[in-house]
Amino acid sequence: MLPTNTDVQKLSDEEFVAIRDFIHERSGIYFAENKKYIVENRLIRRMSELGVKSYKDYFYLIKYDTTHKEFNHLMTLITTNETSFFRNPPQLKAFAKEVLPLITKEKKAAGNKRLRIWSAGCSTGEEPYTLAIILKEEMPDLSNWSVDILGNDISERVLYAARKGIYGEATLRSTEPRIVQKYFTREPEGFRISDEVKKLVKLSHGNLSDTRKLGVFRNIDIVFCRNVMIYFSDDVKKNIVRQFYTSLLPGGFLFIGHSESLHGISKAFKLSYFKNALVYRKEPARTGRSSLSARVSATGATAGNSVAARGTATHAATSTTDRASSIAERTSDTLKKLEKMREMLAAKR
Ligand SMILES: C[S@@+](CC[C@H](N)C(=O)[O-])C[C@H]1O[C@@H](n2cnc3c(N)ncnc32)[C@H](O)[C@@H]1O
Repeated sequence: MLPTNTDVQKLSDEEFVAIRDFIHERSGIYFAENKKYIVENRLIRRMSELGVKSYKDYFYLIKYDTTHKEFNHLMTLITTNETSFFRNPPQLKAFAKEVLPLITKEKKAAGNKRLRIWSAGCSTGEEPYTLAIILKEEMPDLSNWSVDILGNDISERVLYAARKGIYGEATLRSTEPRIVQKYFTREPEGFRISDEVKKLVKLSHGNLSDTRKLGVFRNIDIVFCRNVMIYFSDDVKKNIVRQFYTSLLPGGFLFIGHSESLHGISKAFKLSYFKNALVYRKEPARTGRSSLSARVSATGATAGNSVAARGTATHAATSTTDRASSIAERTSDTLKKLEKMREMLAAKR
């Protein structure tokens, strides 16, 4: 007989810290002291299922299981997988109507028709499939492009659901009926995503905090990492954002959750002020700068866009060249400020 919840003792502070730190080290997910009850509840349930009687035994199980199977299962229990199709429409509008036309125009001009998008922390697949649908809707010449939408997640359970691609009505609540009609078929189990959308998306299991294993995510044009980093400590966020910077091509874009910010996390990206949303952006390559930056101000034609194109943030660069341009940019900003002060003093005199 399985032990009942009462067979398991209360989680002591020491045990909590040991397990919490281990989870943090392996996954980047951090539970503050006031979230102890979440860890305790999830562990009690899981230990009851397995017949494990003490937290210490369970800790050893996740720590020394070389297959990582139980740890992966625990991740499934402690992560929040809330998601839906067309989540946060303004951001997706910025993607569809502003970012995508910019990137594709730029690439076409360079004779490059390869587009790579990364949905980091893709949960049950709604985000990468939404992006695939948007590409199908917005790019009439899509068949002439080589497109990869890469989705990864730490939870095997959500990936299983994503691969299955059958969804309930609730997750389609923000999706236009026309889109549902076009890209889904109704089945007894739910709404099945069409194969033409599915084939644009490649799903894989992966831990964002294990950046050594994220090498496959390179030459990326756009990263979506929305509503994922909220669970991470600042140090882990910094590492992951650094990874995004490395993965992105010059001029690439980073979408994070609409209530999230890189403040205090990274200065590597600049904010681009689009009509529908603010989006972080990696500096375009110096040589080809004129093109994409100029077009941001030309097409957006708002003061915000010009500010974005000029850029205000410094550049936490990963290469010597990047660092040098960052210093040059800061020096030029400082000189501009000094010039302005000089003008003001002269006017006063
Ligand atoms: C709240 S969902 C967000 C899904 C989607 N990005 C969206 O905004 O709709 C967060 C996802 O991040 C995943 N996640 C959490 N920690 C992760 C990690 N270290 N590596 C990869 N995925 C992670 C969770 O499993 C979960 O599916």
